[in-house]
Amino acid sequence: MSRVLVTGAYRGIGAACALAFARQGARVALADIHLPQDTAAAAQAAGAAEVASLTCDVSDEQSVAALGQSIDSAFGGLDVLVHCAGIIHEAPLLQTPIADFDRVIAVNLRGSFLIGQMAIGRMTGSADNPARAILIASDMAYYGRETFSPYAASKHGVLGLVRSWAKEFAPRILVNAICPGPIDTEMLGAANMSAEWRARELAIPLARFGQADEMAALALFLAGDGGRYFTGQGIGPNGGSIMP
Ligand SMILES: NC(=O)c1ccc[n+]([C@@H]2O[C@H](COP(=O)([O-])OP(=O)(O)OC[C@H]3O[C@@H](n4cnc5c(N)ncnc54)[C@H](O)[C@@H]3O)[C@@H](O)[C@H]2O)c1
Repeated sequence: MSRVLVTGAYRGIGAACALAFARQGARVALADIHLPQDTAAAAQAAGAAEVASLTCDVSDEQSVAALGQSIDSAFGGLDVLVHCAGIIHEAPLLQTPIADFDRVIAVNLRGSFLIGQMAIGRMTGSADNPARAILIASDMAYYGRETFSPYAASKHGVLGLVRSWAKEFAPRILVNAICPGPIDTEMLGAANMSAEWRARELAIPLARFGQADEMAALALFLAGDGGRYFTGQGIGPNGGSIMP
């Protein structure tokens, strides 16, 4: 039975990933800066073999170390990481306080480093049965966007971690990034979007927002037999927003 850590499990893509792994009967540790108790209850009802609901600030070293200790007590190791915790930030460069830049980098990039280090350190895996680390980056890991420079930089950085760890831990641990396009979660805020902004977001070949469960389906694929020949990749469920 796989032992899976999902961060950012309180809502959005993380909650969808938690439920997808729960439906497979996995043992799931769910972590978020907000206690993900609703997701945990849903995961239990969906068929998870075991559920641990944990708080963690992924940008904080001590908080991540405490999460590691909780995982040791609950599971004694990890087979799969799905790291979804993240924040977005939008502001013109000249109106971006340095503290905002620091926070985006702390959560999205430092958080990925801390969580990756903690989780990979608890994975065994082998060439025949590799463990999996899946980090959610963004299509903005590949391109810049006006008024999103700290976010884009943080997600470019996540790809750097993924590519380096993929080489460092092959063939024992497969490390990949999911690089979504616009996904209909509270982070995207489609409900409150101006018509102009919505039109810009939807000016992509598939002309719709992606759904969180479509990201979860990809995470399941990468963690399963079909994902055995993927490592160091940024995989883009993005409706065609970019074609790197
Ligand atoms: N929604 C999109 O359009 C989109 C597109 C590309 C990439 N992404 C990425 O996907 C991931 C999930 O995003 P989402 O759309 O589900 O957003 P969301 O805001 O719905 O969920 C993010 C989750 O991360 C948690 N979180 C935030 N800061 C944290 C911290 N310091 N420690 C622990 N948990 C923290 C939040 O509490 C929340 O539950 C993020 O990394 C995001 O950058 C989202």
